[in-house]
Amino acid sequence: MIDLMTDRTHDEAKQGEAYAPFNGDPNQYRKRFYIESYGCQMNFSDSEIVASILNKEGFGATRHAEEADLIFINTCSIREKAEQTVRKRLTEFRKLKEEKKGMLVGVLGCMAERLKSKFLEEEKLVDIVVGPDAYRSLPTLVDEAEGGQKAVNVLLSRDETYADISPVRLDSNGVSAFVSIMRGCNNMCSFCVVPFTRGRERSRDAESIINECKDLFERGYSEVTLLGQNVDSYSLPLPPSQGRGTEQFFTFAMLLEKIAQIAPELRVRFSTSHPKDITDDVLHTMAKYENICKYIHLPVQSGSTKILQLMNRTYTREWYMAKVDRIRKIMPDCGISSDIIAGFCTEDEQDHQDTLSIMEYSRYDMSYMFVYSERPGTLAERRFKDDVPEEVKKRRLVEIVELQNRLSLESNRKDIGKTFKILIEGDSKRSDKDWMGRNSQNKVVVFAKEDYQLKKGDYVNVKVEDCTQATLLGKIIN
Ligand code: SAH
Ligand code: SF4
Ligand code: F3S
Repeated sequence: MIDLMTDRTHDEAKQGEAYAPFNGDPNQYRKRFYIESYGCQMNFSDSEIVASILNKEGFGATRHAEEADLIFINTCSIREKAEQTVRKRLTEFRKLKEEKKGMLVGVLGCMAERLKSKFLEEEKLVDIVVGPDAYRSLPTLVDEAEGGQKAVNVLLSRDETYADISPVRLDSNGVSAFVSIMRGCNNMCSFCVVPFTRGRERSRDAESIINECKDLFERGYSEVTLLGQNVDSYSLPLPPSQGRGTEQFFTFAMLLEKIAQIAPELRVRFSTSHPKDITDDVLHTMAKYENICKYIHLPVQSGSTKILQLMNRTYTREWYMAKVDRIRKIMPDCGISSDIIAGFCTEDEQDHQDTLSIMEYSRYDMSYMFVYSERPGTLAERRFKDDVPEEVKKRRLVEIVELQNRLSLESNRKDIGKTFKILIEGDSKRSDKDWMGRNSQNKVVVFAKEDYQLKKGDYVNVKVEDCTQATLLGKIIN
């Protein structure tokens, strides 16, 4: 079977390479914690908040689970497979727990929110269950669990944004950081569990976002990615005198502009954009600032209007295509990527063909592609039958993946001969004689270091000479 999970950040874990600044004194921390994160970038970003909260309580992070007094697993519920991965990992922790008396295991994130105290009944080794809006209560819950109680807090909040908490950067390359600008989601796409696990949408105070980005830049970071399930609906009420013209809200376009103005050398990215919410104002702001990256993740989900309606995506096929046209008109060099679901309820061969043709039309540079996985409690689970047979779903997904592979290769071939400004992220995976970085369009570019005295975080002009489906290969241009 081929592995169709193309994105590490969606289903696979990144190890808890968390470590807090440690001054060498083994008694500096009263306890050690290990944290492992699954799911989307929001979850990885939340783990950095959790690390910060625990640090303040005198807990230090470790990269090695066997050294830890507390093991945390920040979980994802988006597809059934994501939950299975977490359960498997929990059984592996059972062994450690048996060997080390007093070790506590905590489940954080979306699966904790979805299952609540049921988790404690189902997984006997779990001691602590904490939902995404309750991380401030972690220290108290740890105390309770140490006292032998089962500790649970899965309250969702209407206003928690952790705005005042300065995240501890975990597993960072020191070049690029994620900054959470909002939480929750109000969209209710019928297939999606996120509105139930993350609660109502709320925007984080703008000043705290801008200050966090400034601070990152001052500490040597060269790139920030603004995160939210639906960043384009970022909105804060404005006093009338401060609006741009008649506007009464501080919008995502305004936030983007403020962050772009911090420094021309600070690259700005954002994710995710719901096609219904991305405005011309955002597109023009992107076009106006060289340091706002020309790349939009614009999940289509399906190319069939009938399916889009059942998904409650609120746009039609034609409407989406017009949005792609608009982006290409305002920014001809903009990269576009997508999320696609194969085999949603009632999807027939014509609907599937519509998905393939909208992919061709949009010429995605990259896509995250999934088979539909029914989630308990969602609108689709309650209203529709999951009626596309598993083998049909898989066959359609294979066709989608094969088409995307061709589109990615075609897109990369078009870049041969072009010169791009690359932000160096580090050594290439294959060789420490090569650098790896990204262009504005988010494409990975690999090139020889040669004798230039460069370091990660530097910008360099690279001419593309060759490519694979996933990578551009180039040479430094003086
Ligand atoms: N807020 C983002 C998406 C978050 S989830 C957005 O709206 O774009 C990331 C992706 O997972 C979704 O875009 C969708 O393609 C996929 N996904 C979500 N629920 C799913 C399900 N039940 N089955 C299969 N894929 C799903
Ligand atoms: Fe889920 Fe839709 Fe919200 Fe994205 S916009 S998180 S797919 S409900
Ligand atoms: Fe998963 Fe929750 Fe993110 S369900 S995709 S970790 S918001």
